[in-house]
Amino acid sequence: MLTIPRRIAFINEKGGSGKTTLVANIASHLALGRGRRTLAIDMDPQGQLGKALGLEVRRPKGSAIQLLVDSVLGDAAHPEDPDTGAIRPSLPAWPTRIPRLDVIVANKALALAPGLADAATTDPDDHAPERRLARNLDLSRDLHRYDFVLFDAPPSFGSLTLSVLLACEEVVVPVPLTFLAIDGFAELLRTMKMVRERYGHRALRVSMVVPTFYRRTRMAQEVLEKLATRFPKEIARTVVGFHVKLDEAQSHGLSIFEYAPRDRAAGLMAALAEELEAREPRPAELPRAGDRGQPTATRR
Ligand SMILES: Nc1ncnc2c1ncn2[C@@H]1O[C@H](COP(=O)(O)OP(=O)(O)OP(=O)(O)O)[C@@H](O)[C@H]1O
Ligand SMILES: [Mg+2]
Repeated sequence: MLTIPRRIAFINEKGGSGKTTLVANIASHLALGRGRRTLAIDMDPQGQLGKALGLEVRRPKGSAIQLLVDSVLGDAAHPEDPDTGAIRPSLPAWPTRIPRLDVIVANKALALAPGLADAATTDPDDHAPERRLARNLDLSRDLHRYDFVLFDAPPSFGSLTLSVLLACEEVVVPVPLTFLAIDGFAELLRTMKMVRERYGHRALRVSMVVPTFYRRTRMAQEVLEKLATRFPKEIARTVVGFHVKLDEAQSHGLSIFEYAPRDRAAGLMAALAEELEAREPRPAELPRAGDRGQPTATRR
């Protein structure tokens, strides 16, 4: 059955806030524990998501850069949509060891994506380079095989993050519980407002705020309380502390569920995945049938 996948980006301009760790493990639990068909897309030239899930990313047969080329040029080898005649490319996704979990990997080349470098300064019209990611996903013939598409974003606001914001509808923000974290978050909210207004992307919203690197200190507690007051609906019930097994699992290219399924961190990652799953967008926020060119698609 065709589905309209939820498209969720994990974003915080602060480096090392836990984005990649959350994407790798939440995607793993959605696929492994919840039976959801999941695609994780690495949009960070550091290429850590693929590594965290045990994939070779230096010489991949396909990578995220293919999502940023101008699809208007097309490719005769790609099948056409029988109704519209449009070219419908397939995604450069690779299966992982985990059933139902596919990954689109990234590497350094992503930072040099053609035409994107000055994207943020161009007109936000339909052919702006920063819209290519969204357009290529919309056009692709296999996006509708997935229930969830999770994006891992780079740790800075540039054209790649802008592309991701235009391609997703929901944003998950991991917030490390440090003094400066709230500033970074406020900056992200301003950028999202700009994207909603300037690019007309009204559906864009924060669906979950995940406190990370919690410690029993007064500072962490204060930041947590501020977040909870400001985002009473969005804040996750699950707070992530320091869990060395998460780091170790990644160094072996494994999800926490494969590496240390009985560790407390596995329970936390599963709980977060299920919180996210339960935060279904309200019906009024769903794209109308046909908005994405898939009038027959249904949401599970
Ligand atoms: N809860 C945690 N406990 C301990 N270590 C963690 C935890 N979350 C992430 N890490 C480790 O901290 C480092 C940074 O995490 P991660 O790569 O997920 O952050 P990021 O936001 O994706 O970073 P970047 O902005 O550079 O992409 C990694 O080495 C990761 O293994
Ligand atoms: Mg990362």
